[in-house]
Amino acid sequence: MTARLSLTSVAKDAKTCQRCPLYRFATQTVFGEGPAHAPVMMVGEVPGDQEDLQGRPFVGPAGRILDRALADAGVKRDRVYVTNAVKHFKFEPRGKRRLHKKPNAGEIEACKWWLNLELDIIKPALAVALGATAARALAGRTIPIGTSRGHLIQFQNGLPGLVTIHPSFLLRMPDPEIKAQEYSRFVEDLRLIAQHVPAAKRAA
Ligand code: URA
Repeated sequence: MTARLSLTSVAKDAKTCQRCPLYRFATQTVFGEGPAHAPVMMVGEVPGDQEDLQGRPFVGPAGRILDRALADAGVKRDRVYVTNAVKHFKFEPRGKRRLHKKPNAGEIEACKWWLNLELDIIKPALAVALGATAARALAGRTIPIGTSRGHLIQFQNGLPGLVTIHPSFLLRMPDPEIKAQEYSRFVEDLRLIAQHVPAAKRAA
């Protein structure tokens, strides 16, 4: 990939992306956000309702959990570039609401064009997959979250990586006790970021 590509120019090109049909229904492309040379890149699944309207990743309820968990894990938020495997909101209209839908393999594959450009420009020391869709996009194959979380793995092209749950998973948990336990596990997973990338660690 050429060195003259910048995040700004790639984000501008992504605004008119028609690589898959999702652009027809979404408000806008939600490109990644964060420092161009962030040591850590976090990848979510697909923008949600709020993200689609605001044009920024992880600004809705899942983003608020992620921000809290990163702070609890001692990770500096401004050392992390945040993006999604798929950059247009996928939803099903239900009355006045738009219900999130999981992207399919073709949509993930089509959007890898943008994810690969982000990886190429940022060259993170560590990539973190939030959930199975992101893990699939980064690894190029299905990765079971349950057995792969908690230790360093390798994504495509030898990129060091971690996998953990998607924060939306916590939003859907009805039992407060189990939810608190799962939140703690999520924070434990995120602690590994600062362990492997000291530059991402917050001062105590
Ligand atoms: N869920 C995601 O995967 N990404 C977002 O940006 C918001 C919610």
